[in-house]
Amino acid sequence: MDRTVRPARRFGGTLRVPGDKSVSHRALILGALASGRTTIRGMAPGADCRSTIACLAALGVDIGACPGADGPVWLVEGRGLGGLAAPGRPLDAGNSGSTARFLMGVLAGHPFASTLTGDDSLSRRPMGRVAEPLELMGARVETAGGHLPATVHGGRLRGITYITPIPSAQVKSAVLFAGLHADGVTVVAEAQQTRDHTERALAAFGADIAVERGRLSLRGRQALRAADIIVPGDPSSAAFWAAAAAGTPGAAVVLEGVSVNPTRTAFLGVIERMGASVSVEADEEAGVEPRGTVTVRHEALRPVEIFPAEVPGLIDELPALAALATCGGGLTVSGAGELRVKESDRIAALVAGMRALGADIEERRDGFRVAGGRRLTGGVADAAGDHRLAMAFAIAALGARGDSRIRGAESVAISYPGFFDTLERLCQ
Ligand code: S3P
Repeated sequence: MDRTVRPARRFGGTLRVPGDKSVSHRALILGALASGRTTIRGMAPGADCRSTIACLAALGVDIGACPGADGPVWLVEGRGLGGLAAPGRPLDAGNSGSTARFLMGVLAGHPFASTLTGDDSLSRRPMGRVAEPLELMGARVETAGGHLPATVHGGRLRGITYITPIPSAQVKSAVLFAGLHADGVTVVAEAQQTRDHTERALAAFGADIAVERGRLSLRGRQALRAADIIVPGDPSSAAFWAAAAAGTPGAAVVLEGVSVNPTRTAFLGVIERMGASVSVEADEEAGVEPRGTVTVRHEALRPVEIFPAEVPGLIDELPALAALATCGGGLTVSGAGELRVKESDRIAALVAGMRALGADIEERRDGFRVAGGRRLTGGVADAAGDHRLAMAFAIAALGARGDSRIRGAESVAISYPGFFDTLERLCQ
């Protein structure tokens, strides 16, 4: 599906973005492994979490939603640790890397074989990074040359000490989910901090997890108890509106109820470094995941550089920051080779799409460079089936001289089904 985006004459408003995808996946999975009924409010509405729900249902978990005052309340009837049922068919993770990788960790601790599949994009993404530590723990994982489909032969696991070779919260989480089912203690050490939602969620479900300077220790076979989870707004979705406000003269956006988890807010620091005005006000009540109101206002922009050490904290926001950079500032990113194995090759497809809209942008092996100071002409940008690229191109198009078309715009439904409706509202 194509979507036309017109240049914005104005932009701004107050809004709540949909629930955080990362927090939602973890709440669903730990709810399934806990004893008792877990409730989840504010769950991410996109297709990725639907994939996790469908896979858990195929593993015998009773999951459903009932109407609540602020949207649906999801109920997960936990089956207890190690209590998932062998599925009668392959588990389809769709487009969702989190679903596939997290479930590989969970299934490694269950005494049956199960196969995970995914769509074409997910089937191109690396799974060896998860299979390897799971095999060290005692599972057998057959992959198609390091890709899906993957058959996990689960069983008795032993705890390991694992130093993650790449900064990846998905790998860390898969090892911790397997470690929950293992004998002894599992230690995961990461050289660079990645998002800490699994650690927070484990604690919320009653697990005892020690976190000490990049080293997480989790004793296996701890029973989890059901929890009531409130999912904050997804900062990776909010980043697109923050970028649009920062890039549009006269604009301001107020994002309420959004996650202010410090492992997810680095993009606000970059937007500020570019020159925009950013303020963050944390909400009073401290849940498992901190929330707050983030206000972003346009100011004159300047070019910035993002260094490799910053990349793990910004990995999902780089497309939004690239869009902002086309509105004047300019941006150089290095050490971001991981972008090549996301839902698309996010370096090649981002550069191709931004260039098609008229950007002066250069592709690099592990990053890209956007030259500031050239107004986009508008054009036709192909999202390459990637939700974050569809949104990034739409935001960049707001600053163009002419109209733009986004090819494959329907992919926004992976994380942000109402994105284009909200875009129209904020431009009125
Ligand atoms: C995620 C971790 C990141 C991120 C993805 C969600 C998570 O992936 O890009 O969108 O929820 O743990 P990696 O672990 O592959 O960096």
